Amino acid sequence: MKLPYAEPYKIKMVEPLTQSTAEQRQDWIAKANFNLFNLESHKVFVDLLTDSGTGAMSDRQWSALMSADESYAGSRSFHDLKNAVNKITGFPFLLPTHQGRAAENVLFSALVKEHDVVPGNSHFDTTKGHIEFRKASAIDCTIEQAFKTELEHPFKGNIDLEKLEEVYKTHPKDQIPFCLITVTCNTSGGQPVSMENIKAVRELSKRYGIPVFFDGARFAENAYFIKQREANEKDKSIKTICLEMFSYGDGMTMSSKKDGLVNIGGFVALRDEQLFKKASTFTIIYEGFITYGGMSGRDMAALAVGLDEATELNYLESRISQVQLLGERLIEMGIPVQKPIGGHAVFVDALKFLPNVSREEFPAQTLGVELYKEAGIRGVEIGAILADRDPQTRENRFPQTEFLRLAIPRRTYTDNHMEYVAIALKNIFDRREEITKGYEITEEAPIMRHFTVKMKPA
Ligand code: F0G
Repeated sequence: MKLPYAEPYKIKMVEPLTQSTAEQRQDWIAKANFNLFNLESHKVFVDLLTDSGTGAMSDRQWSALMSADESYAGSRSFHDLKNAVNKITGFPFLLPTHQGRAAENVLFSALVKEHDVVPGNSHFDTTKGHIEFRKASAIDCTIEQAFKTELEHPFKGNIDLEKLEEVYKTHPKDQIPFCLITVTCNTSGGQPVSMENIKAVRELSKRYGIPVFFDGARFAENAYFIKQREANEKDKSIKTICLEMFSYGDGMTMSSKKDGLVNIGGFVALRDEQLFKKASTFTIIYEGFITYGGMSGRDMAALAVGLDEATELNYLESRISQVQLLGERLIEMGIPVQKPIGGHAVFVDALKFLPNVSREEFPAQTLGVELYKEAGIRGVEIGAILADRDPQTRENRFPQTEFLRLAIPRRTYTDNHMEYVAIALKNIFDRREEITKGYEITEEAPIMRHFTVKMKPA
């Protein structure tokens, strides 16, 4: 028999979780104005709000914290991190930042101006926020297959080359600072981008003289899928695949809270020295001196080790198998999800799950609140609330898909927790016909409203 996967680590420290009653949860979520971000974490049993900064570090990382160098300038831990990033990405220049959106702020300050357009595959919300904040636009060029949740496609994060070329043809070159490839594509379901597509985007962009950057938050998970699903990549190591992926780019922004396997941190990595110099000024203004940029020495030291661990095959195998386990269980139960299952999360198709809740009443948010009330599980809405209002018309934007994302923190929960989540969702699925009312917004911020939005039952 083929041996099943098992975690390539054992547990050295545990943290208790609190359980609650349905009455308590009903009361807490109402007091939180039906916004899951407003809940205190001890009121949550299984927290699948995000896989960002919520993972467990290894003993090697904890050791690195202790021996790190906290010097303001020229820290040894900065050099260790720079070497680690260079080894994995090939990019020679590094600017640490306190997290991913700070890396976006630094890089986009150097590159994006008013009226620009930035094509890419479903930009993450902070990325889009940083582009729109500069009065520029993010243009989604993801392949159409990504929006059909039932349709199986090995690389639903891919960029549609025709859509991309259309952007290149219809805008002057100086209005397109770069094309952004997000690996994996969070918004479409943690879906990977193939090496073939990355290469093709690079070639097309080169013809039009447009640089290519990566949002590398989940680059290692992307490399794993490339190894699994692309025939001529299967014999390469994850580290070799990463180097090849990044060889097709001019630089990257990184949220180290994902595939850096740390709780906080980010960086910009670049190939070009001139751009590095330009971006350095923004690092100094917004983040800190260029050899720490918003990170402590110990955080940089733990990240250097985390990047190495995240690009080991046995780690990725167990990580992604756990996400697949939850996804496959839901599919078995007939629950509609984005297929195939992505790298960091299971995306439940709320439009299919709750057909009796109108889009104006936010089905994915409604499902998120139901799941919390059912079992103390916290997911996150990836739908119309997150999509925000159109900056010009101020109308609600209704994206093609409306997901409840269940993001799995790395090395944190057990497979029993996954089964607990699956059963809780099945209980709601069995009574889905009775759920006909959703929520309406009572208060919202002008940009990135999902974090602080207040709602009430419709
Ligand atoms: N890019 C991607 C693809 C992301 O998923 C995130 C964060 C960021 C950039 C921003 O990084 O949080 O370190 O500032 N995603 C988290 C999530 C918040 O829950 O998906 P950050």
